Amino acid sequence: MAQNKVQQEKARLDKFLCDALGVTRREATILIKRAEVTVDGAICKVASVKVTSESVVEWQDRKLEMRGPRYIMLFKPDGFVCSHEDGFNQTALALIDEVKKEDLHFAGRLDVDTTGLVLITDDGKWSHRITSPKHKCEKTYRVLLADAIGDDYAEKLAQGIELRNERELTAPAKLEVVDASNNEVLLTITEGKYHQVKRMFAALGNKVDELHRERIGNIVLDDTLEPGECRYLTQEEIDSVW
Ligand code: URA
Repeated sequence: MAQNKVQQEKARLDKFLCDALGVTRREATILIKRAEVTVDGAICKVASVKVTSESVVEWQDRKLEMRGPRYIMLFKPDGFVCSHEDGFNQTALALIDEVKKEDLHFAGRLDVDTTGLVLITDDGKWSHRITSPKHKCEKTYRVLLADAIGDDYAEKLAQGIELRNERELTAPAKLEVVDASNNEVLLTITEGKYHQVKRMFAALGNKVDELHRERIGNIVLDDTLEPGECRYLTQEEIDSVW
């Protein structure tokens, strides 16, 4: 994956090394004290020195790039969980090749058996725009239902559904029938309640057999990605969320 280069304000040299190399602050300090790091061609032994994206920082003859926030699109396959740890299933983070994964989080989770678009980032303000119901960011799911699509579904979903153990109705959702003979629909919602799509169809007396997320806001799952593959978002995709 080619990393987005971001013009960034100043950072301490040790913090810069942590981000660029995925080392701890202590390990970064050791590299600096051992005189292994140069800044603009000169050895620098001071961890607190400020560097910018214009500074040339090198370690072992490798030029290190200042890393900006990360924004990743993953095609989540079935059987992976959207959390850092799980006692049973593999975490979707195992599918991405990144340093400092502990800094990353999911901008909206999918159930273990749901496939499709997952966004992963270390920018909390950006992901809040996606996950906060206040911002009404649309998420579109392709759904295969067990039973026939009711004639009244579109209207009921648009009006809001009463979910078990929820006080408020769901926000208006859009239903589009893709293939009635196959019970296949697209559902667009603006919230992200626990098992929301499955619970919405359960409330209508149906059952979700397969669930796949295709879109979050203006970001569409890249059709060149295979299940388990990822790529960095383009600047246009990142900006579309703000
Ligand atoms: N709704 C669900 O029920 N499951 C998901 O994974 C996503 C939305």
